[in-house]
Amino acid sequence: MRRPVGVFDSGVGGLTVLKELTRTLPGEHFLYVGDTARVPYGTKSRETVTRYSIEIANHLITRHDIKMLVVACNTASSLALPVLRKIYKIPVVGMVDPCVRRAASLPKRDNIGVIGTAATVRSGAYEQALRSGLPASHVVSTPCPLFVSLAEEGWVETPVTRAVVAEYLAPYRSDPPDALILGCTHYPVLKNSIRGFLGEGPVLIDSGEEAARVVDVLLSEGGLKREGSGPEVSFLVTDDPDHFRGVGELFYGAEIGAVKKVSL
Ligand code: DGL
Repeated sequence: MRRPVGVFDSGVGGLTVLKELTRTLPGEHFLYVGDTARVPYGTKSRETVTRYSIEIANHLITRHDIKMLVVACNTASSLALPVLRKIYKIPVVGMVDPCVRRAASLPKRDNIGVIGTAATVRSGAYEQALRSGLPASHVVSTPCPLFVSLAEEGWVETPVTRAVVAEYLAPYRSDPPDALILGCTHYPVLKNSIRGFLGEGPVLIDSGEEAARVVDVLLSEGGLKREGSGPEVSFLVTDDPDHFRGVGELFYGAEIGAVKKVSL
């Protein structure tokens, strides 16, 4: 099965998801689209993010014949997933359900925290999924929009980062949840600062790690898995490739090779 797995995000953030995908599925070919011309999605409306997501999915399906679509952006997953699933016949994997599944598998799961962009929190997508997966749990959601800029600036453990983490996450320190869902692609980059502030108590749920597990299972079950000798990764962006490469390596944790600019 030589068809690639399509992965998209508003920009560099989804590279934290891609990193987990390549680690879990080293035999696959991944085609990543970063919509860098239109980032951020986290401040935009459902209608706009859904339109952008459809444009990217159409490009990946019609031009590249992808076998599966991974929506590696929590905002797009929260706002556009039901529409994408309705339109396309290939499997579409988002970030929300894999995180909820992990929360539901924990021995202690009475109190769950969710952090994400303003649009993700406003959408209520995590609360809705948690209500059906974990009906007895108490959920507290908090938008943490400044985390995106801090991560893109590479300020992962600076005094400013620690101060912003302390400000946003204060409610979770005074009343620690059993698990905190890192419901945004950028937040795994700030994991040390988050862990440093919250201590060892809450389980930090990383959407990339959880989504990679789900993609693995779905590819196997669907007979879609490719057993190549190493991951093959192609990068497409909608704006300046050099900027993407420069900022992206912190998120990807490895060198990013050729990046091609495309118009959708
Ligand atoms: N990728 C987005 C997310 O995971 C964060 C960046 C943005 O706002 O576009 O929600």
